[in-house]
Amino acid sequence: MDHFQYRQGRLCAEDVDLEDIADSVGTPAYVYSTATLERHYRVLSEALAPVAPTICFAIKANPNLAVIATLARLGAGADVVSGGELATALAAGVPAGRIVFSGVGKSADEMRAALAAGVLQINVESEPELELLDRVAREMGLRAPTALRVNPDVDAHTHDKISTGRCEDKFGIEWTAAHRIYARATSLPGLDLAGVAVHIGSQLTDVGPFREAFRRLRDLVFMLRADGLVIRTLDLGGGLGVPYGNEDDGVPTPADYAAAVADTVGDLGCRILFEPGRMLVGNAGVLLTRVVRIKEGSTRTFVIVDAGMNDLLRPALYDAWHNIVPAREPESSAEWSDVDVVGPICETSDTFASQRRMPPLAEGDLLAIRTAGAYGRAMGSAYNVRSLTPEIMVAGSRFALVHERVSVDDMLARQHLPPWLVSRPSALTGSTIVPAAGKARSG
Ligand code: LLP
Repeated sequence: MDHFQYRQGRLCAEDVDLEDIADSVGTPAYVYSTATLERHYRVLSEALAPVAPTICFAIKANPNLAVIATLARLGAGADVVSGGELATALAAGVPAGRIVFSGVGKSADEMRAALAAGVLQINVESEPELELLDRVAREMGLRAPTALRVNPDVDAHTHDKISTGRCEDKFGIEWTAAHRIYARATSLPGLDLAGVAVHIGSQLTDVGPFREAFRRLRDLVFMLRADGLVIRTLDLGGGLGVPYGNEDDGVPTPADYAAAVADTVGDLGCRILFEPGRMLVGNAGVLLTRVVRIKEGSTRTFVIVDAGMNDLLRPALYDAWHNIVPAREPESSAEWSDVDVVGPICETSDTFASQRRMPPLAEGDLLAIRTAGAYGRAMGSAYNVRSLTPEIMVAGSRFALVHERVSVDDMLARQHLPPWLVSRPSALTGSTIVPAAGKARSG
């Protein structure tokens, strides 16, 4: 359930007409719904209530400060994977004691920043990383709260590029080595070893692989405890899929997921951490875009829109399917036809929908690309020198620009010609090249 609905034929985010947002901010633009974020957080936390969850929003899915602050107000912590994400979570008001630091390539500086902030836990993914964390913590006169992320060698049956729990994936400490490495880690004085973590992939549409991975985690906990090792926390990662609208069998509900958790690890007496990303924010966001023109080909009709793969990469990168709907509800008598909805970027992969049945569309029409709240703006780029997409937050009948468009001028101001190219006539054209913006550094 989300709060993007047609009202009197106009698509609204809660009580706000999306046309009003597009008129005031321009397109393309991301729009998030507070009520939807709140609903998703509540549904998940209520489903998991029997295991008293610590829910750490994976902010890689959406690092917008307003989104994080909305969830933090409900009690969410954060799962971060870089110094930048750590700074963002703290800036959004997430208490350090509710932040988990994950990621396979943490630098010493990032470890220092996490320890200085006082994060809840650092999930370590290799032996060399354990040694580095031990050294950094000792230098700071601290003990690092540490969990070992293990790779359970379970296939999540999701897109290959977002599967993380098979032994050939780069993530986690190999299942078979976990016991030995955990025992070794407990002997490192800079580490306060608290538990184990697992994350097998994203957009899982079946709870089976979760159950399998959590059962393996359970076996590991028994093995470690039998050796007298202490396991206080279990971090079960994220990964629960959301409905994009093209699934044959739907996706598991938070209740299905919670049952898998309770059945497998609910009785271990551990504090259980979760790192949901997509599930909290995916359906809470849309990407607004306008039709630039319709191009009729001999075999296809192309609806060219002003959003591109730089604004929303998922279709190009994962062949992801996103529902695309017009902001004005189609008449019941409208004749639908198959079209390709494409962006303006110079790549064929810049295609949002191929041979998609759509109602009649014309230049200037506003469309909403649905379920774009997760890994949308977060993975955006300025490819083809396009501005970075602005973000708007809606709450009831109010809306606010919460992330300004990063304009081409903003970006050009950060580029500098080297001194040898400044104010010299170009050999080819005879024209003069000057710094594009700002002052060139001399040197
Ligand atoms: N925890 C860890 C350690 C992760 O690596 C991830 C996602 C999550 C939690 C959150 O997973 P979620 O609940 O959102 O599935 N860009 C891709 C998804 C990449 C996911 C990366 N890791 C996409 O657009 O589908």
